[in-house]
Amino acid sequence: MRLDKFLSDMGAGTRSELKKEIRRSGVTVDGKVIKDPGFSIDASSYVVFRGSVIEYEEFVYYMLNKPAGIISASDDDRESTVVDLIGEPKRRDLFPVGRLDRDTEGLLLITNDGALAHRLLSPKHHVDKVYYARVSGILEDSDIELFRDGLVLTDGLECLPAELKVLSVSEDDYTSEAEITIREGKFHQVKRMFSSIGAEVVYLKRLSMGPLVLDPGLEPGAYRRLTEEEMSSLGL
Ligand code: URA
Repeated sequence: MRLDKFLSDMGAGTRSELKKEIRRSGVTVDGKVIKDPGFSIDASSYVVFRGSVIEYEEFVYYMLNKPAGIISASDDDRESTVVDLIGEPKRRDLFPVGRLDRDTEGLLLITNDGALAHRLLSPKHHVDKVYYARVSGILEDSDIELFRDGLVLTDGLECLPAELKVLSVSEDDYTSEAEITIREGKFHQVKRMFSSIGAEVVYLKRLSMGPLVLDPGLEPGAYRRLTEEEMSSLGL
């Protein structure tokens, strides 16, 4: 791999900035100062840049507690995105695994591993996603059965069976709290499912995706690398 591409992939800067800096100040590769941005390196090369050793990592994985008000995209001309929340130095090839609505909070995996994203998102794999929802409306036992039997949305879309757990109901406020497990990820799916039974989602948070559970220590907007155990639970 070219030296400038390697440093850019590892989050040291853009290719054009790095080309200039390498020509000007050089990079130490295996003890020699290199000023050629196209110099060829491999995984065993010992690279020191700006005084730090830069180790090669093919894939990175972050667990983010997505805050409300931020869009699930890699970059956007006008708005800040979930990837912007990952601080520097960061790789330029990060993306969120799936989308949460702008007003939805909770677990979002940010990575550059396309194969893992495909495994988690492919409709064939039916990965469980658990959400906490506060809805306007009174949830009843009969709703649990409707979700379990597979709801048909108002536009005719048939949902796979889902698990609805009613956590609390307040007749005074006319609100309910619930946990819902779905095995697919259609656009606005949870909101549309509740809407089809006459309840409106007023707050939504994703708690888990497959084996990955949102770390309760992460405040909205905070993130961390996945642990070794989390990575192995994902088969990494
Ligand atoms: N379902 C929704 O309606 N919104 C989300 O953000 C995620 C699932």
